[in-house]
Amino acid sequence: MKPKVLVTREVFDETLEYLAQYCEVESNQPDAPLSPQRLAERLKDKDGAVCALTDRIDEQLLAGCPGLKAVCNIAVGYNNIDVAACTARGVMVTNTPGVLDDATADLAWALILSTARRITEAEAYLRNGEWKGWYLKQLLGVNVHRATLGIIGMGRIGQAIARRAAGFEMRVLYHNRRRVAPEIEQRLNATYVSKEELLERSDFVVLQVPYSAETHHLIGAAELKKMKRSAILVNSTRGGVVDDAALIEALANGTIRAAGLDVFENEPRFNPEFLKLKNVVLVPHIGSSTEATRRAMAMTAAKNLVAALTTGDPPNLVNPEVRKR
Ligand code: GLV
Repeated sequence: MKPKVLVTREVFDETLEYLAQYCEVESNQPDAPLSPQRLAERLKDKDGAVCALTDRIDEQLLAGCPGLKAVCNIAVGYNNIDVAACTARGVMVTNTPGVLDDATADLAWALILSTARRITEAEAYLRNGEWKGWYLKQLLGVNVHRATLGIIGMGRIGQAIARRAAGFEMRVLYHNRRRVAPEIEQRLNATYVSKEELLERSDFVVLQVPYSAETHHLIGAAELKKMKRSAILVNSTRGGVVDDAALIEALANGTIRAAGLDVFENEPRFNPEFLKLKNVVLVPHIGSSTEATRRAMAMTAAKNLVAALTTGDPPNLVNPEVRKR
């Protein structure tokens, strides 16, 4: 008998076709976000799930799903999953590292460039009919080329962001829990500094750390104060890494120049005060959203799930300690 799996959000046809070769698939097409109750109901008799960062996988849910063996997130981040609770119940957890590094780095760069050159503000000005002609001081931005880029979180995506800085002849500083290998520093022309030094010296501060209890509000009022008044903050990782209320205050008071945000606390119900500010570029968590990347992410999650259920040894297992149970 084929294992039973649930695909909690809409995916691509090829994802379902692949899964159907190995599993009895219940899918959620067309997309209808599942409430925690509905998710619990649909998952209770399943062996595995392809899930998304909109699904909360916690102890309460797991308690009602005794047959569950694997939850495979379509994301590199997995802060929506209580990994310890999964491990304790013998449930494998997987993510989709690698396939989204470049798309997410591209989006971080889109935010760097659009904040520096005030692209969304300039477009609104044009669309609103305010453009009456050229003048010297019109919508003055700041230079990206030869500026200092500070990256907090130098994993795969942080490194992809740093690689792109070479074309802009930037100085790259980084901070990370652990210093990366000297060959990588050399290749990226990146200098390891403390978080404080990075905040004080950078013209652009880009956040690329995973969200966890340790990185909650990594950037708050005190850190924003350490940044240059001319500096720009980009958050392309997870809401909660930045204290959004403190950021709104800093943007309104000119403590920093601008911010580019793909992620928010409590998204999609982000703080509406952001909408009153001109010096912030806001996009709705689209870091990995190119068609090729999202297809690759969905297929990676599907392959993780099939491997978990057929061999018990999926690639991209984030809780290998589950094997010891
Ligand atoms: C997206 O936010 C991801 O974690 O893949």
